[in-house]
Amino acid sequence: MTTPHAPDHDRLLASSIEVITAHQQPSGAYPACPDYEVYRYCWFRDGSFIAEAASRAGAAESADAFHLWCAKVVTDRAGRIESLVAAIRAGERPAETDYLGTRFDYDGSDTGDVGWWDFQLDGYGTWLWALTTHLDRHGRDAGPYREAIRLTVDYLAATWSTPCYDWWEESKEQVHGATLGAIRGGLDAVDRAGLGDRTVCTGTVAAIDALVGERGVHEGHLTKWLGGGAVDAGLLACLTPFGTVPAASPVAAATLAAVERDIVRPGGGVHRYLGDVFYGGGQWPVLAGFLGWHYARTGRTADARRELDWIASCATAEGLLPEQAPGAGLLAPEHLARWEARWGPNATPLLWSHAMYLILADELGVTQ
Ligand code: BGC
Repeated sequence: MTTPHAPDHDRLLASSIEVITAHQQPSGAYPACPDYEVYRYCWFRDGSFIAEAASRAGAAESADAFHLWCAKVVTDRAGRIESLVAAIRAGERPAETDYLGTRFDYDGSDTGDVGWWDFQLDGYGTWLWALTTHLDRHGRDAGPYREAIRLTVDYLAATWSTPCYDWWEESKEQVHGATLGAIRGGLDAVDRAGLGDRTVCTGTVAAIDALVGERGVHEGHLTKWLGGGAVDAGLLACLTPFGTVPAASPVAAATLAAVERDIVRPGGGVHRYLGDVFYGGGQWPVLAGFLGWHYARTGRTADARRELDWIASCATAEGLLPEQAPGAGLLAPEHLARWEARWGPNATPLLWSHAMYLILADELGVTQ
């Protein structure tokens, strides 16, 4: 049945892959958003999910170019990584600026001091996960990546329990559930693919599991940070795709239930966390994508389809997806004006939003 506002998936599928490939830089880097002043960098976190979408959606060469860019970013910093790992092993506490950045200029250089903190660990785990998934999907040779994988595994094995900024670039004094999930997901993927030092990978995964079991579960669900009680939508990625806990486990069920209770909107759409004020704390297409992905993987097809349709309802007339849904449904509407005054309307097109739409469409078999 066709309704007057039926989402135009054909159009959005086409515009999504076009947005991703047209804005990819000659270096392989993906901008987070080409039209938003402070997002004209390439993040490992955003970029890895964007590459996953490209890898699924018929643009495997685009994903290759991104992964080679990441590998070069890492190997260019081999000396820095080795010194940092040695310092941590010697019991020293490196400065925040000694760690690898979370975002880079398109040519792979450090962004320098752009007045925005830069220390997040999750992107490196996400990259290992996306890379190994892509290599496996397309039967690619891992040779060009081996050194970068080795360095990244060593980096994460030394740093994983260090407090750092979270997926949302906030709360740096905490160790975050979603960050641990991404690191664990990456190390586990590398290990399963036989591409990393087995002892290092399995030992770190086991240590993460032990710490999460001890301090990262509250009332049966995973938590936003160790020792806390709240949830964060980034935890959805711990269920799918990272598998921090098995999808069928009671902890996964309780985590999903807590997220649904606190930050999922009944008609579709997901907030980052209760208390979010960024652009008024709206609903993120990216997070509807993670929720739908988990629903799709666990047999809740109608719920997954609702999230896909909801994401499509956020598109502009030109077929572009924003970082946050336009219009109503803000947690803290009184904060919207100050962000718009500072940086303009919320970032559009956000390549990560297009990526999550493509991934969810692929999971559901929605094709052009
Ligand atoms: C988000 C990050 C994201 C970045 C670029 C920030 O506002 O909190 O998760 O990586 O934008 O899209």
